[in-house]
Amino acid sequence: MHRARKAKDMNKDFIKELFNLHKKNVLVTGATGQLGNEICAAFVGAGAYVIGTDKDLDKKGQVESKNCEYLKMDITDKASVIKTFKEIYARLGKIDILVNNAGVSVFEPFAERPEESFDWVMDVNLKGTFFCIQAYAKHLKDAKSKGNIVNIASIYGILSPDYRIYTDCKRKNSEIYGATKAGIIQMTKYFAVHLAEQKTRVNCVSPGGIINPELHQGDDFVKNYSNRCPMGRMADTKDIIGGILYLSSDASEYVTGQNLVIDGGMSCW
Ligand SMILES: NC(=O)c1ccc[n+]([C@@H]2O[C@H](COP(=O)([O-])OP(=O)(O)OC[C@H]3O[C@@H](n4cnc5c(N)ncnc54)[C@H](O)[C@@H]3O)[C@@H](O)[C@H]2O)c1
Repeated sequence: MHRARKAKDMNKDFIKELFNLHKKNVLVTGATGQLGNEICAAFVGAGAYVIGTDKDLDKKGQVESKNCEYLKMDITDKASVIKTFKEIYARLGKIDILVNNAGVSVFEPFAERPEESFDWVMDVNLKGTFFCIQAYAKHLKDAKSKGNIVNIASIYGILSPDYRIYTDCKRKNSEIYGATKAGIIQMTKYFAVHLAEQKTRVNCVSPGGIINPELHQGDDFVKNYSNRCPMGRMADTKDIIGGILYLSSDASEYVTGQNLVIDGGMSCW
C-alpha cells in the first residue's frame, strides 16, 4: 500500500531543491548566438557556473558575470572538442550539464543548393553535436559521474515549413536543416538509451520560430507565422528557457529521450 504524501513533504524547500541548479557546471555550445546568450544568462541567473563555447566569441553575445566564462570551440573540429572538454575537466573536475545549442542553416532554394552547403549543415548540426556527446560521455565514464544532456532541435525536425508564410522572408528553411534536426531528435533517443547506464539523461528541446530583432524575418513573415500559430505570435528566446532549465534539473529526474516542443501550439495542426 502506498504511503499518503503529506502536504508538508511538498514544502517550498522541496520544490526549490527539485529545480536547484546552484553550483552546477554547464557547458553551452553556440553560446554567443541569439538563443545561446539567453541560455547562458538563464543558467547564471539560476546560480550555475557556465562555460560558454562558440566558434566565434562575439563579445556582443557574452554574459558579463564571474560565473560565466567563454572558450573558443568549433564543434566540427573533433580535436578542438576533445581538447576543450579535457581542459575543463582538468580545471573544474566536472560538467554537470551539456547544452548542445550550436546550429546552422542555409537558405537558398533547394534546387540551387551547393553540396558544400548541405555538408556544412550536416557537419555542424549532426556531426558537431555527436562529437560533443562523444567527448562528454568519455569523461563521464572515466570520472564515474552522472551527466545531463539537452540538445536543441527544432519544430522543423518534426514538420515541414509552410512555404505560403514566407512571402517577404528570404530565409526559407531548408530540407537539410529539418533533416539534421530530425536526426538530433533521434540521436537524443539513441543516447538516452545508451547513456542510461551511466545515469546520464539525454533530452531535447524543439523551439518554434523565434523572433529575431537583429536579423528581422520580415513584417509579412512575422504576421503570417503569428496568424498560423495557435498562440498568435512567434517565440521569444525567453519562452524556450523554462523547458531547458526543467530538463537540466532534478525536476525531470525520470525524463529521458524526450523531445519537448515549445512552439505556441504551431505543431498541433
Ligand atoms: N532561431 C530560431 O528560430 C530557432 C528555432 C528552432 C531552433 N533553433 C535552434 O536553436 C539553436 C540556436 O540558434 P540561434 O537562433 O541562436 O542561432 P544563432 O545563429 O544566433 O546562434 C548559433 C551559434 O552557433 C555558433 N556556431 C555555428 N557553427 C558553429 C561551430 N561549428 N562550432 C561552434 N559554434 C558554432 C554560431 O557562431 C552562433 O553563435 C540552433 O541549434 C538552431 O537550429 C533556432
